[in-house]
Amino acid sequence: MQKGKFITVDGVEGAGKSTQINFICEYLKDKGINVILTREPGGTEIGEKIRTMLLSNSTGKMHADTELMLMFAARNEHIQNKIIPVLAQGDWVLSDRFTDASYAYQGGGRGLDIERIAQLENWVLQDFTPDMTLLLDVSVHIGMQRVESRGTKDRIEQEDFDFFNRVRQAYIARAKQYPQRIKLIDAVQSVDDTSRQIQAILNDL
Ligand code: TMP
Repeated sequence: MQKGKFITVDGVEGAGKSTQINFICEYLKDKGINVILTREPGGTEIGEKIRTMLLSNSTGKMHADTELMLMFAARNEHIQNKIIPVLAQGDWVLSDRFTDASYAYQGGGRGLDIERIAQLENWVLQDFTPDMTLLLDVSVHIGMQRVESRGTKDRIEQEDFDFFNRVRQAYIARAKQYPQRIKLIDAVQSVDDTSRQIQAILNDL
């Protein structure tokens, strides 16, 4: 039985996820909520090993189906061994990315058939889904500029503008498809302004 709430934060590269995730964590703790912060791909010992394989530049080219299945393999560990047990004890879980990223990156970016991703999602997650997803949206141009300024890029960050444009469009399409769960946030504004938008949404939750 799930007692805590499961919140995910997603978006294109350079949307300012890390800053806002820290804000959300502090905000929830201030309200007396026990929340754990985790991430995908990763979040467990095996998941972090899979993350290294997925993001390391030394991995080189990988078949898109392999990439998708590795994302879901890491996710299975994450759900079974971390997320569900934490929610069951009544604490909240805040995840830096989740399944929407597979639809956006492997679906939109890599061009994999959405139906096949849905089959895999159904197989691994059944009807398990976040209570709320905060989708931070910035233009690909701004996002890529922020990534460039950070220095080295991982295997997926090496992709080009068109790839990230497809990723962004796929995220926006998901937000339209699931307006109740996915809250689209304009993250072009200042950090404080973005945090204010998030705070209003969290108060509703
Ligand atoms: P990040 O944690 O720094 O955002 O890096 C994670 C990368 O993995 C990012 O490029 C998005 C990508 N990713 C996918 O392609 N599919 C997925 O399902 C997930 C969770 C992440």
